[in-house]
Amino acid sequence: MNDAFQRNINYLRISVTDKCNLRCVYCMPEEGIELTAHEEVLRLEEILQVIRSAVMVGIRKIRFTGGEPLVRKGITDLIEMVDKIPEIDDIALTTNGILLPEMATGLKKAGLKRVNISLDTLSPEKFAQITRGGRLGKVWQGVEAARDAGFDPVKINTVAIRGFNDDEIQDFIGLTLKMPLHIRFIELMPIGASKLTARGYYISTAELLEKVSSKWHIVPEKEVAGAGPAKYYRIPGAPGTIGFISPISNHFCSNCNRLRLTAEGQLRPCLQSPREIDLKTPLRSGASELELSNIIRLAINSKPEKHDLEQSGWDGNSRVMTQIGG
Ligand code: GTP
Ligand code: 5AD
Ligand code: SF4
Repeated sequence: MNDAFQRNINYLRISVTDKCNLRCVYCMPEEGIELTAHEEVLRLEEILQVIRSAVMVGIRKIRFTGGEPLVRKGITDLIEMVDKIPEIDDIALTTNGILLPEMATGLKKAGLKRVNISLDTLSPEKFAQITRGGRLGKVWQGVEAARDAGFDPVKINTVAIRGFNDDEIQDFIGLTLKMPLHIRFIELMPIGASKLTARGYYISTAELLEKVSSKWHIVPEKEVAGAGPAKYYRIPGAPGTIGFISPISNHFCSNCNRLRLTAEGQLRPCLQSPREIDLKTPLRSGASELELSNIIRLAINSKPEKHDLEQSGWDGNSRVMTQIGG
């Protein structure tokens, strides 16, 4: 259905857990975050009920996020159940890749269509540093497992961070020459739980594009299968593509097609706005799917026109990404 600004909202991003098996410095404080109590997190049947209700108001694409969605018990079963809902035509997952080696084949069989894997550096030392102890080799095995299981496209999410990975941009691009990977550079946003989400670490897409085009001839590419706001380019003849997600420098709010559900069962009309609409209480007090769909309709109608991060975000309060799911 359309919201108040004529945007067709057909994409629901669902955070299935706020737990994670990594501790990325821009995302989590060192001591970890205070985890939501188990009983506060939506059960799988409840998530399924929300999806069925969301279908009634036009949701057609689902993306599972976290925290790390693959640490949620039963995620593969949930995907299998969602795949049986005829109206849903895309089921995707955003993951750090660590658990893909053992899970990719099962996920594919269950009906998962696409995976996006987060990877901010190609150096094992820097990877251990930014994830506070993670092993890069595991993620690479995850990327390979995803490709072997038949996922296509496989997209890589790389948050561009000044002084951390800006010296690796050409190496990431080199990957697109060798493999059918879609590398997407994401502008750092002032959300998360650390000092790293400060303006000084932010690199704009314009700056990155300049860096890239000074070395390579790149041509705009039509969209790579997906539902998100990335703009894609390709080095002619390369199997992979280079994408840019520019939440700060280029408001894609006017094309925003999404709604979010937090692990705790709150609907979030906008990633950048703290406003939430409670779905869990009605869910747990026996609301019908029609009643739930009416609440989802209200959430869609209350989507703000745009965010104001460029102006105010860097000084504002940080919000925790793991609970919202990016
Ligand atoms: P595709 O369907 O594959 O295009 O997925 P996607 O890009 O929508 O999903 P993914 O989870 O890979 O998103 C990548 C990153 O883009 C997120 O983690 C955020 O950093 C950013 N992003 C996605 N959606 C939004 C949004 O609505 N607003 C803002 N500001 N950033 C977003
Ligand atoms: N800015 C931009 N992207 C972020 N992510 C997490 N925190 C931020 C931030 N502050 C990204 C992760 C992952 C996706 C779910 O969100 O790297 O790719
Ligand atoms: Fe985990 Fe993703 Fe946050 Fe890293 S960015 S700590 S992988 S939730």
